[in-house]
Amino acid sequence: MAENFYQETLQSPESPFDLSLRPPLFSEFQGQTRVRERLELMVAAAKQRGDALEHILLSGPPGLGKTTLAFILANSMGVNIKCTSGPMIDKAGDLAGLLTTLERGDILFIDEIHRLQPAIEEYLYPAMEDFRLDIIIDQGPNARSVRLNLPKFTLLGATTRAGLISSPLRSRFGMTSRLDYYNVEELTSIIDRSAGLIGVTIDREGAQEIAARSRGTPRIANNLLRWVRDYAQVKAKGAIDRYVADLALKMLDIDNDGLDEMDKRLLEALIVRFQGGPVGLNSLAVSVGEEPGTIEEVNEPYLIQEGYVQRTAQGRVALAKAYQKLGLQRPSQGQRELF
Ligand SMILES: Nc1ncnc2c1ncn2[C@@H]1O[C@H](COP(=O)(O)OP(=O)(O)OP(=O)(O)O)[C@@H](O)[C@H]1O
Ligand SMILES: [Mg+2]
Repeated sequence: MAENFYQETLQSPESPFDLSLRPPLFSEFQGQTRVRERLELMVAAAKQRGDALEHILLSGPPGLGKTTLAFILANSMGVNIKCTSGPMIDKAGDLAGLLTTLERGDILFIDEIHRLQPAIEEYLYPAMEDFRLDIIIDQGPNARSVRLNLPKFTLLGATTRAGLISSPLRSRFGMTSRLDYYNVEELTSIIDRSAGLIGVTIDREGAQEIAARSRGTPRIANNLLRWVRDYAQVKAKGAIDRYVADLALKMLDIDNDGLDEMDKRLLEALIVRFQGGPVGLNSLAVSVGEEPGTIEEVNEPYLIQEGYVQRTAQGRVALAKAYQKLGLQRPSQGQRELF
């Protein structure tokens, strides 16, 4: 369980637990102040004009609140939201089906929008710009193009891989915002709020302890909280303080900096097997027995952000902090050449 804790946590996002803890309003959404302020302003302006929101693209690592913001936006505009994801739309007809059910002002939320097929993207351009869709119906000699006029809607795209979005698509969004990792204080408030919702007693230090080990990610914070709650229930009469949180997280093999077994295996492979790099993602992935995509999306962003690993044109390189974490000496340049 412990080894893949983050992978599981980050790749099964829509658990009922997740949904119940999702803040429904901007006022309950902690952190991401700049992004939140921009979106609130857009909502206020659109509402004053009685207009639909501009198309919005939200990017950032998994579990930071993109889907949550999509629901908050729909909520505060008082419009419907239809949710789909890039890989789910495989025919132009699927897209037409979605778009034609929208009412004026509604939001179409496309998660993992970087995984849309190029052909579908082409259909999306006129839909976004001119609110029309030209689709070909029938085949062979009967084939003909039909134009559908769409109500003015808002396309809300979310992606964990902003770099993979084509520039024609990106340029059609009126607003592009990137979510960043949360600081410990923000996560502490999120944990406090969630603890209240699930009805567990936690003191400030307990919340801080979980926050510090949540890799800047609310989804992880909530999942760790759930685990610590279980632990406290069985071992500590239900209340969470720093001591209980620490023991519970140790039992999951999550260290004081929030790194789990897979993170440490990655650092170890990078340092021991590949002499600190540079090494390509695929070789690294094979050596720890994990999918390259998972490493790139789940483990690596945090390791990079925290200064353990650097991504260079030649591959991944271990930084001083990675050696410290494993209690190893970083070889000098001369020593490295001897390897
Ligand atoms: N700012 C926040 N304040 C409080 N809770 C939050 C916040 N952001 C996220 N959460 C919590 O974290 C969970 C994960 O957030 P969300 O599903 O919005 O992430 P996401 O960015 O869409 O992730 P993915 O890329 O995996 O789809 C939510 O269910 C919610 O409970
Ligand atoms: Mg999401």
